[in-house]
Amino acid sequence: MSEFTGLKMFNPDNRIRFAWEMVVLAVIMWVIITIPVSVVFSGENTGESTALIELILTIVFTADILIRFNTSVIVKRQLVASRRRVFIIYLRSWLLIDLLSALPFWFILGGAEDAGITLQVLNFFRLARCLKLFRAVQTLKRARHSSLFNPNVVRMILLIFWILIAAHLVACGWVFIEGDIPGTSNSDQYIRALYWTITTIATIGYGDITPKTTVQILFTICVEIIGAGLYGFIIGNIASLIANIDIARAQHREKMEKINTFMQYRNLPTELQKRVNDYYNYLWETRRGYDETSVLHDLPVSLKTNVSIFLNKEMIEKVPLFRGAEDALIRDIILNLEPAVFTPGDYVVRKDEIGYDMYFISRGSVDVVSEDEKIVYATLSSGQFFGEIALLLSTPRTETIKTREYCDLYSLNKESFDRVLERYPAFAEKIKDMAEKRKRETESSK
Ligand code: CMP
Repeated sequence: MSEFTGLKMFNPDNRIRFAWEMVVLAVIMWVIITIPVSVVFSGENTGESTALIELILTIVFTADILIRFNTSVIVKRQLVASRRRVFIIYLRSWLLIDLLSALPFWFILGGAEDAGITLQVLNFFRLARCLKLFRAVQTLKRARHSSLFNPNVVRMILLIFWILIAAHLVACGWVFIEGDIPGTSNSDQYIRALYWTITTIATIGYGDITPKTTVQILFTICVEIIGAGLYGFIIGNIASLIANIDIARAQHREKMEKINTFMQYRNLPTELQKRVNDYYNYLWETRRGYDETSVLHDLPVSLKTNVSIFLNKEMIEKVPLFRGAEDALIRDIILNLEPAVFTPGDYVVRKDEIGYDMYFISRGSVDVVSEDEKIVYATLSSGQFFGEIALLLSTPRTETIKTREYCDLYSLNKESFDRVLERYPAFAEKIKDMAEKRKRETESSK
């Protein structure tokens, strides 16, 4: 096949392309619902309206084939944009089904109608369009991977959707083999059939509608066999979906149960138990129980940097020290920050201890206090930092730092701190000035 270099191929992620896919999906749904109904209640068809509908369907499905020929595809995560390869891939996968569902049977066979082809036979050919349902399966599968919605919610909605489609098709099948019931309207008959389908598939089987003829008995046997499997599948899926829908919350609850059982078993004082519970609830409220470090751990460096920058952006923006700093410096620091949570009244650093880290405050506040905690030299809050003096001067901690409330801190270890200062002398100057100022302030208030 020759390459048409003039026409550009659509990208599979193209928005217009996506909108078209949604249009085709809607048309497929319409086809799945209406064509089986018009086949089983063929008396309802008026030739004219059916001809118009058939024309529209043929146009839409043919346009779909043409668009697919002009859309690059993704195979094993690689974009295939060569027309020739796209054609071969399409030929080997969906082309036959798409062609069959696009054929204008009504018009091909319509001419022969006089020659004895009845409306009902024509309608049967129209059923070929329902093959397009396989296409819808593929489109909807992709929706499962959309990051916009919780994948479990999407799975649940799709499951219900497929059950309804299956029930509809089986109900149409039942109406067909049941034939006309005198004195019953089409809609009543359909509702009866749907009721029969659901009671059979759900293995309820009230027995008020029972198969009479051999064909009906055979049909019922098939539906019962498939129904029993389907029912088990549905129940299993729904149970697992409900369990997974908020897996983070379920894990949190399980963790809390284990910890509480342990604490009761080891007779921890009630006050301490309360603090442990409080701590976990804080983790849940602020980060849904996820440990940032372990989530980032598996990512490659480039992604990890981007995610870390995004997560810490707010915190970095709050730190006046970083205002106007070069991007490279911020990147260097962010990549080396470790999150740490402290509960109210914790000592983050104690006077005279050796210092290995400095800290940035993301949330919460701390007091800089004397060793006996009688004097509060300063209160530091979100966007400020501490612990730099011991690292700069390689001396023990000059004061004690005590949290006033729950604090989300980020620590930077001495090695990274030294490296950053060495690489960025202007930043080193700034931080040294600040440390000097703090030391003077503290000395003067002693
Ligand atoms: P470091 O000595 O490592 O540990 C205690 C920290 O308290 C110290 O570093 C400073 O970061 C911080 N600090 C000491 N004095 C003050 C002050 N007056 N204002 C703010 N922070 C201070």
